[in-house]
Amino acid sequence: MITSMKQDSQAGHVPAASTPAAPSAAPSTPPSNPSNGPRELPAFAVKDLNLFYGTHRAVQEVNLEIPNRSVTAIIGPSGCGKSTFLRTLNRMHELTPGAHHTGTILMHGEDLYRAGIDPTLVRRRVGMVFQKSNPFPTMTVAENVLVGLRLNGVKDKSLLRERLEQSLRMAALWDEVKDNLHKSGISLSGGQQQRLCIARALAVRPEILLMDEPCSALDPIATAKVEELIHEIKKEYTVVIVTHNMQQAARCSDRTAFFYMGKLIEYAETKAIFMNPTQPQTEAYVSGRFG
Ligand SMILES: Nc1ncnc2c1ncn2[C@@H]1O[C@H](COP(=O)(O)OP(=O)(O)O)[C@@H](O)[C@H]1O
Ligand SMILES: [Mg+2]
Repeated sequence: MITSMKQDSQAGHVPAASTPAAPSAAPSTPPSNPSNGPRELPAFAVKDLNLFYGTHRAVQEVNLEIPNRSVTAIIGPSGCGKSTFLRTLNRMHELTPGAHHTGTILMHGEDLYRAGIDPTLVRRRVGMVFQKSNPFPTMTVAENVLVGLRLNGVKDKSLLRERLEQSLRMAALWDEVKDNLHKSGISLSGGQQQRLCIARALAVRPEILLMDEPCSALDPIATAKVEELIHEIKKEYTVVIVTHNMQQAARCSDRTAFFYMGKLIEYAETKAIFMNPTQPQTEAYVSGRFG
């Protein structure tokens, strides 16, 4: 429940702080994440969603359900509303002056926009990784990963240490930085910085991870690492990833939503979208005829 989460968090509790430690014998497998809602309810049920910037309607009448513990890709040409749609899933768009929406979004069955829900708590439960990696420049690698937990009041040194290693392992970065945890976060390479941001997002054990073109600035090796980690974490987490790269959507998602000019044109299993789309616009886009 979002309400109970609020109480927990007022007590300085991070959802995962009460979870049993991940088995230390297999630290690279994602720790169980019991806070990510009842399995049977979709992570998100989006109904009649419209998103406006002032009077411009950037997202139009979107209806879709995003299943729990799966990877959903959002594809479509530039400017079709992918990032805007993604930001409505953790109320991030409310930070943009003039942005407003109509319609409903249920997260694990609860209205995300119900009166009284604190959007900052929603953003804690629904983590986000951006196109451009943004480690905190004055912080070390370790501080970057742990900043969210510390802000939530976690002081237990062994828990912090454990979460640091788990998060970096899940982000496929541990081996590369374990001897440099006290170096500046921005001393890492671009690909490492993006994985650091993923580790930072995972450290607070969000229920859901939103990724907005997380690989667009990465080389193919770093991209492959991020894709591998998406594959790993979906065992326990729900991932929604916006990507420009259709091969990436095909490789790492279970379901794909194709947006065009603010509308959800088609949403189905990834295989169906790429092999057997029902809408001519989807067919044209996935076969590279526009976009
Ligand atoms: N902050 C903003 N203010 C006004 N219009 C915006 C803003 N962000 C995006 N838009 C507009 O909303 C539409 C969708 O943009 P966006 O969601 O960024 O598309 P995508 O991520 O698919 O490239 C575009 O027409 C864009 O110009
Ligand atoms: Mg975008």
